[in-house]
Amino acid sequence: MTDGLDPQTRQKKAAAEQAVEWVESGTTVGLGTGSTAIWAIRAIGAALAEGRLRDVVCIPTSEVSAAAARELGIPLVTFEDRPVVDVTIDGADEVDPALDLIKGYGGALLREKAVAQATRREVIVVDASKPSALLGTRCHVPVEVIRFAARTERDFLEALGARVVLRPDGVGPFVTDEGNWILDADFGPIDDVPRLAARLQERAGIVEHGLFVGLTADVLIAGTDGVEHRQRPGA
Ligand code: A5P
Repeated sequence: MTDGLDPQTRQKKAAAEQAVEWVESGTTVGLGTGSTAIWAIRAIGAALAEGRLRDVVCIPTSEVSAAAARELGIPLVTFEDRPVVDVTIDGADEVDPALDLIKGYGGALLREKAVAQATRREVIVVDASKPSALLGTRCHVPVEVIRFAARTERDFLEALGARVVLRPDGVGPFVTDEGNWILDADFGPIDDVPRLAARLQERAGIVEHGLFVGLTADVLIAGTDGVEHRQRPGA
C-alpha cells in the first residue's frame, strides 16, 4: 500500500467510506465525531465537491466535526431547520453482538446521542479492535455530569461498583461542548447494559452516559479481509 496509512487507520477509512456510499442526494446527514467518523466527513465533502452527491445538508455531533465540515464546504444545519436526520455515520469505542455501544472517548457523547435519537438510520463505523462479547470488557463508560454535582455523582458511580476518574484535559478537567465534565467510570464487563443505563438515567446530575442501547441500525466493521456489515434485526 502506498497511502501512508497504518493498518488500523486504513480500516477506519474503509468502514467510513463504505458507509458514505449509502448516503443519498437530497438527504440530511448526521456527522459523527472521532478518528473514524472524520473519514466519513472527508468522503462526504469530496462527494459534494465532485457532484456525486447534491443537496445534502449535515448536522454535526461536535464543534470539532462542525469545524472539519466547514473547512470542506459541507453545508451545516441545526435541528431547527431539520428535526429529523436520515442517516448518521459515527464511530464507537466498543460494540457488542446486539449492536449496543460504548461511546464518548472523544467527549461528544451527549450531542452524539441526541443526533442518534433523531436519526432514522444510525450507521456505526469501526475498525476490528472495537467489537467485544460484553460491553465494558475493553472500555470504561464515559458519564457526562454537571460540574455542580460532579462529586456526588462520582460517589454514586463508585457505589455502583465503578472505578471513577474525572477526565483531565491539560491543567484542568476536560470540558464538553455543552460545558459539562466527564467521569470515566470503569465497571468492568457489564452483564445487564439496559439496567445500568436505566440506573444512570435516574440521576439529576448525570446529563448523559456513553451506553448507546438500541440506537444502532447498522455496523460496518473493517478488518484485514474487508468490511463486514452487521444489521440490527428489524432495522
Ligand atoms: C466521540 O465522543 C466518540 O463517541 C467517538 O465516536 C468514539 O470515541 C470513536 O472514536 P474513534 O473513531 O476515534 O475511535
